[in-house]
Amino acid sequence: MASDSDLKSFLRKLPKAELHLHLEGALCSHRVAELAKKYGVELAHAEIHQRYNTRGFAQFLELYKWATSFLREPDDYAHLAEDTCSNLREQGVVYAEITLSIGVMLLRKQDVRANFRAIHDVFEEKFRAAQGPRIQFVFDAIRQFGQAPAKEIVELAAEHRTSGVVAFGLGGDELSLPLADFQPAYERAASAGLHLLVHAGETGGPDQIRDAIDLLGAERIGHGIAAIRDPTLMTRLSQRKTPLEICPTSNLRTNALNIQLNATDVSLIDHPLPKLFRAGIPISLSTDDPAMFHTNLVDEYFHAHQMGLSLDELLQINRAAFEQSFLSPEQRAILLAQLKNYRPS
Ligand code: HPA
Ligand code: ZN
Repeated sequence: MASDSDLKSFLRKLPKAELHLHLEGALCSHRVAELAKKYGVELAHAEIHQRYNTRGFAQFLELYKWATSFLREPDDYAHLAEDTCSNLREQGVVYAEITLSIGVMLLRKQDVRANFRAIHDVFEEKFRAAQGPRIQFVFDAIRQFGQAPAKEIVELAAEHRTSGVVAFGLGGDELSLPLADFQPAYERAASAGLHLLVHAGETGGPDQIRDAIDLLGAERIGHGIAAIRDPTLMTRLSQRKTPLEICPTSNLRTNALNIQLNATDVSLIDHPLPKLFRAGIPISLSTDDPAMFHTNLVDEYFHAHQMGLSLDELLQINRAAFEQSFLSPEQRAILLAQLKNYRPS
């Protein structure tokens, strides 16, 4: 390909799937400013800027808590869904699995059903009008909040299975509570026919990934980059074909990359993505919390190219994302058929 800009424009047009995207992490600073105004909260521009430009995992969780405190009614979630939908479309995403922090809604004693209806209806309407990607949802619990809300979230997810909720997931602070605490919630989720996701091996060690698989039956791992520290685990992930949802910019900005590489001065090109991919572990590429990490999916593919992946390897990763998704076989076949027309010139 002639230039970086040719590559980016090819990547933008390529129909893509994104599997690890938090709706609340797509809440941009402009929308926060607007919501603050709506609720009569005075916010200096400098404060917003400072909060959106920190580094470190604890700082990120603090930003997530602060920004979502301005999402107070279903209409706020609807606007966020509209913003997210148009950004996904602009990025060439034709299918996304969007994670909703139901744990945050419950913490704030919000009406989860009403919030979900508002979010769902926006995406559904845009999809039907051919103005947005096909979307399925993941209901996420927050690890440090414990197993009681997690069980409530599983029930809510089960109740909404016919409205596009396909999976139950667990995010938040990996170092807070052991995954064994969540076994009953995951057993119930599995029996309700939900797919099972776990954030593991982001800031925690390889043991977190093993526990996610062995104790909770995780079908895909959110991040999972700690696997790079454990060759036996890498072999296991490759043999049992457990996909990792890789989010490079997120890993840089939360310092997860420093932690896993045991180094202080790392950059995106040090990311273990190429090693994981070439070890035969199924991976996909995502943005995680695009507004908070100032990224988008085209940039993530471009970063992977800068890490040394060829265009052919990028195309393999994109195809794999559809294969690793929780689409029905019929819908997957329809979306995969679209890829046939996209070949580099
Ligand atoms: N990890 C943990 N918690 C989160 C994340 C993440 O990637 N995104 C939103 N909450
Ligand atoms: Zn995440």
